[in-house]
Amino acid sequence: ANNHNGSDERLKEVCELLQTSIAHYDWVGFYFANEAEKTLHLKAFAGEPTDHTTIPFGRGICGQVAVSNKNFVVPDVKAQDNYIACSITVKSEIVIPLFKDGKNIGQIDIDSHVEDPFSEEDERFLEWVNEEVAKIL
Ligand code: SME
Repeated sequence: ANNHNGSDERLKEVCELLQTSIAHYDWVGFYFANEAEKTLHLKAFAGEPTDHTTIPFGRGICGQVAVSNKNFVVPDVKAQDNYIACSITVKSEIVIPLFKDGKNIGQIDIDSHVEDPFSEEDERFLEWVNEEVAKIL
């Protein structure tokens, strides 16, 4: 909720940089957890606006990562039963938890219009992005 240091703007810049420079990253956003409410809240994004700005823990790919603390790579969203559809153009998704002082405080979520585009290289890269982002929070 606090934004006295401009971290929201910097998060938005990170989203825009990733979305514009990596061809298979069509939507990029950061969700952060409200531990008391057990919900995720969209703080910054690049790409089409989404209705899903608040997601309960456990719901969808994002909500599952909030409780598992693990990377979730979805090569084909149609094969997932616990999935929240944002757009019919989305074919695949990757969600990587963001840790601050060892605690899962949020995540980066990326949607792609391509089927099965995410590799282990994306996972390592996005883990690094999250480590860098944690430093500005
Ligand atoms: N598809 C996500 C919801 C967020 S949108 O991708 C922006 C999910 O299943 O959690």
